[in-house]
Amino acid sequence: MKNYLLLSILCLAGILMSCTQKHTRYRIGVSQCSDDEWRHKMNNEIVREALFYDGVEVEIRTAKDNNRNQIADIKYFIDKKVDLLIVAPNEAAAITPVVEKAYRQGIPVVVIDRKILSDKYTAFVGADNYEIGKDVGQYILNRLHGKGKVLEITGLEGSTPAMERHKGLTDVLKEEPGIEITASVDGAWLQSVAGEKMDSVFQTNKNIDLVFAQNDRMAIGAYLSARQQQLEKEMLFVGIDALPGKEYGVEQIINGVLDATFIYPTGGDKVVQVAMDILEKRPYERDTKLSTALVDKTNARVMQLQTDHITEQDGKIERLNNQVNEYLSRYSAQTMFLYACLIILLLFAALLAIIVRAYWTKNRMNMELSRQKKKLEEQRDQLINLSKQLEEATHAKLVFFTNVSHDFRTPLTLVADPVEQLLEDKALTPRQQSLLKVVHKNVHILLRLVNQILDFRKYENDKLELVRANMNLRVQLQEWSHSFQTLALKKHIHFVLEVNDDRADYLMAVDAEKMERVYFNLLSNAFKFTPENGTITVTLSTLTKEEGGRYARLVVADTGSGISVQHIRHIFDRFYQIDVNHAGSGIGLALAKAFVELHGGEITVDSVEGKGTVFTVDIPMTVVEEPSADLVQEPRITQQTVVEELEDMETEEQIPDENKECILIIDDNADVRDYVKSLLKEEYTVIEAPDGRAGLKKAMKYVPDAIICDVMMPVMDGLECCRKLKTELQTSHIPVMLLTACSLDEQRIQGFECGADSYISKPFNSKLLLVRLRNLMDNHKRLKQFFGDKTSLSKESVSDVDKGFVDRFRELIEENLADSELSVEDLGGKMGLSRVQLYRKIKALTNYSPNELVRIARLKKAASLLASSEKTISEITYEVGFTSPSYFTKCYKDYFGESPTDFLKRRG
Ligand code: FRU
Repeated sequence: MKNYLLLSILCLAGILMSCTQKHTRYRIGVSQCSDDEWRHKMNNEIVREALFYDGVEVEIRTAKDNNRNQIADIKYFIDKKVDLLIVAPNEAAAITPVVEKAYRQGIPVVVIDRKILSDKYTAFVGADNYEIGKDVGQYILNRLHGKGKVLEITGLEGSTPAMERHKGLTDVLKEEPGIEITASVDGAWLQSVAGEKMDSVFQTNKNIDLVFAQNDRMAIGAYLSARQQQLEKEMLFVGIDALPGKEYGVEQIINGVLDATFIYPTGGDKVVQVAMDILEKRPYERDTKLSTALVDKTNARVMQLQTDHITEQDGKIERLNNQVNEYLSRYSAQTMFLYACLIILLLFAALLAIIVRAYWTKNRMNMELSRQKKKLEEQRDQLINLSKQLEEATHAKLVFFTNVSHDFRTPLTLVADPVEQLLEDKALTPRQQSLLKVVHKNVHILLRLVNQILDFRKYENDKLELVRANMNLRVQLQEWSHSFQTLALKKHIHFVLEVNDDRADYLMAVDAEKMERVYFNLLSNAFKFTPENGTITVTLSTLTKEEGGRYARLVVADTGSGISVQHIRHIFDRFYQIDVNHAGSGIGLALAKAFVELHGGEITVDSVEGKGTVFTVDIPMTVVEEPSADLVQEPRITQQTVVEELEDMETEEQIPDENKECILIIDDNADVRDYVKSLLKEEYTVIEAPDGRAGLKKAMKYVPDAIICDVMMPVMDGLECCRKLKTELQTSHIPVMLLTACSLDEQRIQGFECGADSYISKPFNSKLLLVRLRNLMDNHKRLKQFFGDKTSLSKESVSDVDKGFVDRFRELIEENLADSELSVEDLGGKMGLSRVQLYRKIKALTNYSPNELVRIARLKKAASLLASSEKTISEITYEVGFTSPSYFTKCYKDYFGESPTDFLKRRG
């Protein structure tokens, strides 16, 4: 807006400037030779005439009868680059060169009144002085009746009128011998010079009848000289110019001073007209002759009256002109004022429009803002409500959770204790002892988890209190770390405890049990995520913080997989799990943070993905006088179980027995592996792996007959592992059974997508697992050639023709799956075989009858639909080509060991 206004002001200034500036089209320079009344009259005429032309500027300079002055004036006009030069040359010879110079430089030159000695000029305006001379001669003849003595007073010798007038005069008078020119003297066009010359003539000659002076001024000079001699009545005085006005030629005729005079017209107006014709490229006369006339007693009065009248008219015109000029300038001032007003009005209107628009916009925006504000407020209120509801729901859940945890603790303690007692019984078989150990370990894990939840709730309700006692943290750390040394050895992890300043006194008042839990939590995390040959470093040091106070700094750094930025922000949030594969309650770190903060300390984490994680714990090093003994401690769960949790049970790798089928169990939980192994080891050779990657390696190495694989595992999850197994040439034929968490249906669908052959939900029934596995292996054995295991086909030397045959047959079944009428005859017909031929060939190749193969294909499709769609059992029944749901259910149960209804129930 500021810019608009500035622009408008500039425009306004521009317009006003252009209004005030007079536009000059032509500059005309006038160089006058003399400065007398005749010249004044001419100059006035020039100026007045120029007014009639728009944009004409006239500058007049006068040389005062001096050649040098005039040369300088003309040069001045040349330098000024006038558009046209008007010159009345003082003396022809002296002025000619400079006039030629101007002409050569392209300046049009109008010569007036007097001439130059060359034709290098554009036009001439003036009277014919030779003719005037002749007219004077004729007048003298008549006036003196052919007899008398004449004295001639000429103008400036070098000026052309003087020469021409003299010539005209003499040419006429020489014809009449009675008339004698007694003398011809140079009066230089001036009255004074003429007077002086007359005085000297009178000294020798007083016998003169007529004095002819070449202008009226000189004639008056001669008259005055004669009057001094009292001879004025003796002779006649004749002049040239006939200027009107006081004491000029015409009046002197009336006064009786002059006998006659001849009009020598000034013609200033004519000069300007010719100049303008030249400038505006109109045709013009190169020689403009101005006419002359005799003025004597007979016409002088009339002429006087006329010229007076003309002068009066001129005056009126002058006044009128002045008035017009005044009106014009007033008009232009008013026009300017009008423009200025108009522009100001426009600016004002524009400003008003901008203001109004801004006001409207502001109003609109305000309305929009208040609408949005209202909406935001509504949303905020909704959010507050929602968060309140959520808070309440969470609270209710937590209360329930706490209550349930409480309820769990007593029975768990009651299980733990008898199990411990049982374990001491020497009569137990090794298997019974091993099973009890599993129970013992897991009961303690459960107790620890329950205690963690309860502690955290206490912390949240400000009920968790510290039992501080002075202890040496360095000594304690060494003791606690001891438990992890064996684990480190087993897992091939380099575990180091460094105390930066050995001499430092680490005596401080802490709750030993809680600090131990913090330390065990951090270390167990580090051990969980650090791979073989990694390093875990624990560093203890002291530091003094800016805000004051000494602190013990405990740093646990590992070279594990690290935590992403996205997760690290929430790592201390309660129930936050980095991902489902890193199973755990998600409360351990939240609790560790709570314990550290209860000590007035601080816990921070720093992690680089792929490089490792560093936990830093700063605890103030304060000491208490007396240990607080009155606080009752909660039953203490030894932290040793934390280490046991991380340890795999000692298992010796079994080398697959050629005579027994081999099963690979992949699960990160050693107890689950042990348990499954205990179920299988009588009938099968069992090999194990703790994660997907290790499982994949073992599957490649031993090529087991079946694989049981957990889904949630660190390093590589079960789905990824299954996908890889099914894409590797060596393992693609091995049937895979996935262990899925019952609540995660999604996993089952994904499992099928990854190529899993079967699944079993956790917690599982041991008999169901065995039956499923058996079915899976039997079915697979028979189906392996038919359902796409090309490796096996080649192993068993099936010819290319047979492979092509089987492929074609499989495609036929898949295309006609929904056709319940599909018969062996139809299939045979489509394959180009009879029913019997088809039966024999298929049986020989797959150990199945064609009908059985069709049914199995239907059941497999049904299983996939059940897991992945919302269709009902009867919809699926018809879609896969069964005609009755009950028959479908029977076949499904026979094949998969579980009815579709049971499956759906579990799926929830
Ligand atoms: C004026 C004048 C006239 C005369 C003319 C001749 O300057 O002296 O009186 O007629 O010049 O050029």
